[in-house]
Amino acid sequence: MMVIADHPITAKAHTNIALVKYWGKLDNQLIIPQNDSLSLTLDEFYTQTTVQFLPELSADEVIFDNERLSESASKRVRTFLDHVRQLAGINFHARVITKNFVPTAAGLASSASGFAALAGAASRAAGLNLNRRDLSRLARRGSGSATRSIFGGFAAWQQGQDDATSYAYPIDEQPTWDIAVVALVLNAKQKKISSRVGMRLAVETSPFYSAWIKASQADFETVKTAIQNEDFELLGHTSEQNAMRMHALTLSSDPNFTYFNADSIQAMNMVKELRLQGISCYFTMDAGPNVKIICQGADAERIRCYFQSSFGQDQVLVTRSGTGISISN
Ligand code: DP6
Repeated sequence: MMVIADHPITAKAHTNIALVKYWGKLDNQLIIPQNDSLSLTLDEFYTQTTVQFLPELSADEVIFDNERLSESASKRVRTFLDHVRQLAGINFHARVITKNFVPTAAGLASSASGFAALAGAASRAAGLNLNRRDLSRLARRGSGSATRSIFGGFAAWQQGQDDATSYAYPIDEQPTWDIAVVALVLNAKQKKISSRVGMRLAVETSPFYSAWIKASQADFETVKTAIQNEDFELLGHTSEQNAMRMHALTLSSDPNFTYFNADSIQAMNMVKELRLQGISCYFTMDAGPNVKIICQGADAERIRCYFQSSFGQDQVLVTRSGTGISISN
């Protein structure tokens, strides 16, 4: 029998960086993607979330980084809690306390770690004892990229065709080869187009969308093989190509837009310059101007110094492979 936890439950989930991107949904409601995607979970950036369902609450309370969120700001969290209540067959409201652990303030907070941690804490607090596959299906309902943050290391999100078949699975949770990511925090000045809106525009308007699906499925297989063979060059090159193929969809959407700013372009050129100097490193970008550089651990310090001289100390962060979700009892 399911029993609501009589104490707060805390979950910790790390964010992830997609090497093969998810960009477009087949089903906007259930968040079923148009393609398989693959990511590396990162150890430095994570979210910690505590949830308790309480009979005395008359509404859900969401406290994010010590501030109570308004009705509108907490809408996605409350919709997610409704889904958990429905699964568990309960109707109590919840108190949710969530904190993002990102070394600097700007730009790297993510819905991936956020909804993965919320899925873990809320499901257990509601008395559901989900296995990791079902947790990843639940996290998917909050944000697509959260599906993969249930697992550590390299994880894939299998597209599937419905709620039951669209989930993540681990590829290599504790890679023995030393992969690092150097994250550049490059502030966005222009108004941000969310990934949710951006990918919908691509599906509906980009004439290149079907080519993206074809290319990303091929990239998925190639990166999987690269992981199996610990082939860094193949992994890095394919990830960089895949990122640019995704960003080509923003340029070819109607209205067209881009997540690049001048600093992003400078950073991408600097990565290419480093390659000419013989340092193997590759860039990727998501729905914002920050550039993440995929490299081998042994080169991470050199790359960090190179970028710190242009972008400043606090703007350059080094991280490695992180673990999957953990949930308190
Ligand atoms: C570029 O997971 O934020 O980071 O499912 O609408 O919440 P929703 O989108 P979201 O999109 C992530 C897009 C991406 C690529 C990726 O992480 O695969």
